[in-house]
Amino acid sequence: MTAYEELLAHLPHTPRTWLVTGCAGFIGSNLLETLLKLDQRVVGLDNFATGHQRNLDEVRSLLAPAQWDRFRFLQGDIRNLHDCRAAVEGVDHVLHQAALGSVPRSLADPITTDGTNIGGFLNMLVAARDAKVRSFTYAASSSTYGDHPGLPKVEDRIGKPLSPYAVTKYVNELYADVFARSYGFSCIGLRYFNVFGPRQDPEGAYAAVIPRWIAAMIQDEGVFINGDGETSRDFCFVQNAVEANLLAATTTSEGARNQIYNVAVGDRTTLKELFEALRDSLASHSAPYRKEPEYRELRPGDVRHSQADVGKARRLLGYRGMFRLAEGVNLSMPWYVAFLRSTNSIET
Ligand SMILES: NC(=O)c1ccc[n+]([C@@H]2O[C@H](COP(=O)([O-])OP(=O)(O)OC[C@H]3O[C@@H](n4cnc5c(N)ncnc54)[C@H](O)[C@@H]3O)[C@@H](O)[C@H]2O)c1
Repeated sequence: MTAYEELLAHLPHTPRTWLVTGCAGFIGSNLLETLLKLDQRVVGLDNFATGHQRNLDEVRSLLAPAQWDRFRFLQGDIRNLHDCRAAVEGVDHVLHQAALGSVPRSLADPITTDGTNIGGFLNMLVAARDAKVRSFTYAASSSTYGDHPGLPKVEDRIGKPLSPYAVTKYVNELYADVFARSYGFSCIGLRYFNVFGPRQDPEGAYAAVIPRWIAAMIQDEGVFINGDGETSRDFCFVQNAVEANLLAATTTSEGARNQIYNVAVGDRTTLKELFEALRDSLASHSAPYRKEPEYRELRPGDVRHSQADVGKARRLLGYRGMFRLAEGVNLSMPWYVAFLRSTNSIET
């Protein structure tokens, strides 16, 4: 049995209270769904900046009524310390996901990204410290590797940030470390690498590559590859990120606290390979996509190659990250087909 399988078996017998910030977003709503299915009590905080009520409604539809009744939603803003204090009251474990994602968004509006991702993060740290929560796990980012050329990425070797977003995520790590040193409040930072899966928003100017391409393919629109197609990423199915959060939050090992971990698979997939993987998967779930991708300029702020060494998370947290790209894509595709049908973006 893996550490995660043991945890999944054990948690329903020991219900705890969790706070998921950003619970109406992509990763947050997947955490919410898993925790409620494990009969946990969950408080959710979100201001719907990029999250959606429809994600909460969908989670509700997947649960027994008694499980949904264990959820309490607070519409609030992490930039407001009062909201953060209200959210952490009586909470055992904080999973802090709320932030403004996207490198291009941060280049277009660095001030709002900074206010949310740094100011909001600091509010959450202060509130959680004062409430004496048992654990605080937060969404860090692989963007922190910046211009460091080394591959695979190892946690203690980083370069200079390449975007305002990357700066904010690195500052989170610095604050977390200072809170451990100054107040004895230990956190765990999870450097996610290109997470994807159901409920990742395919719409809007700042959609991530996988949902954007799946939507374009389903709607028979053009797919654009930024650069020559050799740019590579370590795409991580959302259930791997859920696993890492639950293991990090509940670890009883002192040595595992006040640490940063890569959360990914350890694979490297080029954008050309990604295009083929999505096209193959779509062909078995909906009408095949027959267009070829169009190439255009690289985006500023983007890292060229990314691949994680996940050895540290394996050693210290017992993380496995079993879902590889093709499996995750196949598990996500039915959701995208159904979602785009329901929003009438494609003919039924
Ligand atoms: N998706 C990825 O590939 C990826 C990679 C690295 C890091 N991350 C980090 O993971 C976390 C979750 O990302 P996601 O992909 O689920 O994005 P998302 O946009 O779907 O979710 C973020 C959620 O935070 C909420 N939020 C934003 N500002 C808020 C505020 N001021 N107060 C309260 N709630 C607020 C949004 O409404 C949204 O529901 C973020 O911290 C992001 O930076 C994600």
